[in-house]
Amino acid sequence: MNLQKIREEFPILAQKAYGKPIVYLDNGATTQKPQTVLDTLVRMYAEQNANIHRGVHFLSEQATEAYENARRTVRDFLNAALSQEIIFTSGATAAINLVAFSYGERYVKAGDEIIVSLMEHHSNIVPWQMMCERKGALLRVIPISDSGELLTEEYGKLLSSKTRLVAVTHVSNTLGTVNPVKELVRMAHNAGAHVLVDGAQSVQHIPVDVQDLACDFFAFSGHKLYGPTGIGVLYGRKELLDELPPWQGGGDMVDCVRFERTTYNELPFKFEAGTANYIDAVGLESAIRYLLSVGMKDIVDHEQALTRYALERLRQINGIRLFGTAKHRVGTFSLLLDGIHPYDAGMILDKMGIAVRTGTHCTQPLMQRYGIEGTLRASLALYNTFDEIDALCAGLEKAQKILKT
Ligand code: ALA
Repeated sequence: MNLQKIREEFPILAQKAYGKPIVYLDNGATTQKPQTVLDTLVRMYAEQNANIHRGVHFLSEQATEAYENARRTVRDFLNAALSQEIIFTSGATAAINLVAFSYGERYVKAGDEIIVSLMEHHSNIVPWQMMCERKGALLRVIPISDSGELLTEEYGKLLSSKTRLVAVTHVSNTLGTVNPVKELVRMAHNAGAHVLVDGAQSVQHIPVDVQDLACDFFAFSGHKLYGPTGIGVLYGRKELLDELPPWQGGGDMVDCVRFERTTYNELPFKFEAGTANYIDAVGLESAIRYLLSVGMKDIVDHEQALTRYALERLRQINGIRLFGTAKHRVGTFSLLLDGIHPYDAGMILDKMGIAVRTGTHCTQPLMQRYGIEGTLRASLALYNTFDEIDALCAGLEKAQKILKT
């Protein structure tokens, strides 16, 4: 993998912040975009823009074909069996909300249970709480160890005939833990429950095969995968999606509209009300093609080498506390420096051109578990370098010098 060439493909990485090279380590929040994705977006607007599935004219047919090709590319990327199993949404959050509403309406009744884990992002907690409130169901929580790993034995004890669905993240956005999703799915299915996997932090770091994972639903966002914002994907098994009522009503999701009774379109359109975000869907396809051209194996190897190096270097810093030390992990590092507020350290790093995230990372229950108010988080992507890890460590040491009284 030619890292120099890859970096040149991301124009923003050549920019400076405060006159210093940008060291972009906030990839868990959003990733930067390669030129090919930017070009695709401009080309779509400049050459192929027309509303999809609606016109008989040339441009509309072109845009429709591009959109449906994007769906096929996502299908292959996830190794889904069918294109109808790929629903475009505005992001992982919308995908999870769709399932929480539609699945809840169809399958959940008072007294049923939904299981989430303690390390979930708010977007994989709150939609289920809302659904439980609507339906009189109960939310159960899988605890974690100090190292940030799910306690699978405890999970086994939570599963029962009352469990309808398990919603769990593939990779923790705060700890970097890679959860044993295949095993979690197997256990849920043995108990007769369905599983939704939140892949917002996994698809960009590890190859995903939804048929191998055997999950029922899988959600991810485009912008964390080097694609545009405002586009995401819900994968769902066809037999299940067929059973679910629509989430939102509007154009394109209907078959026949009568004031007496309306019937709905077939999959996947039943879940895509209104004008779809066809431009960004094609932008997402371009991002996926870019990833595949670099090669997922090379990406994994590079990011894992960076992760090992970062852990070794971070551990050499005196007075550092790392949250999340799981064996299986990606390059996401949550940390605190003794006696220093993460926000203050983040501000010093910023002035050095180093971008990290500080705060709760939309995982307040996880912060509560560790008895802390927040962390400073550095999160890696395929374009990061060993020098940038050195810059991060030097920045943290400088913050210690400046801020320690
Ligand atoms: N969910 C994104 C993050 O973890 C925004 O930073």
